[in-house]
Amino acid sequence: MKLIIGNWKMFPSSPKEAKSIFNGIKKGVRGVTHAKVIVCPPALFISTLIAIKAKAKISIGGQNSSFEDEGAHTGETSPRALALIGATHVILGHSERRAMGETNKEVSAKVVAAIRNKLTVVLCVGEKARDEHGAYFNEVAMQLHSSLEGFPKNEFKRLVIAYEPIWAIGAKAKRAATPSDCREMSILIRRELTEYFGKKVAFTIPILYGGSVDDRNAEGFLKEGEADGLLVGRISLDPEKFSTIIHIANNFRKL
Ligand code: PGA
Repeated sequence: MKLIIGNWKMFPSSPKEAKSIFNGIKKGVRGVTHAKVIVCPPALFISTLIAIKAKAKISIGGQNSSFEDEGAHTGETSPRALALIGATHVILGHSERRAMGETNKEVSAKVVAAIRNKLTVVLCVGEKARDEHGAYFNEVAMQLHSSLEGFPKNEFKRLVIAYEPIWAIGAKAKRAATPSDCREMSILIRRELTEYFGKKVAFTIPILYGGSVDDRNAEGFLKEGEADGLLVGRISLDPEKFSTIIHIANNFRKL
């Protein structure tokens, strides 16, 4: 089953708007049986959305969480609290957080803490730029290895990898990656995961693509790109387009 994750980032700023976008997505997932949908709103709206979720098959996730369950960490989000309020997933190591100074070491500590609290981790990796010699493959491999340090191997079911090339993320990106960019990087990621978890497990860990995904290019990433799902930024705030992506994913019934 394909996984479609919406990363709302720091949008919207009003609870009313958050509810309205979410209600739009709720309508959009009606009848969807073969795609798993996760919405990651700003932390302030997580409880609000969980409260109005009712029977909709949408999971709610955070966009970051701390390496500790409790402590003197002003402004941080506790993974334990996230789990206790009903979130099931958390995005960790997003490039926008790495750009604020988050290191692989910090990401790996956050991953371990999230897993300890039974959250499923959506671990983001991706290169800053592409060079003609392919050094970016090493960059991503290194990032993955270091971010997974200490990951308890028996918890592999709680791990999702999101490949998000930084140059393809956000409104300023010139373009999305191509399905073939996505496919070749997932092969590399799968190889690295095989080293860590062994082949059998590595093939069960979903590898998603993220970076300027929209309703027009989504199918290409899932089909030719062979992505197990998508991490969608801007477009996940547009219920109509996001629902179109969800339905495209729903049509891939073979997984
Ligand atoms: P974008 O963001 O879809 O707006 O490019 C993706 C992400 O950063 O997760």
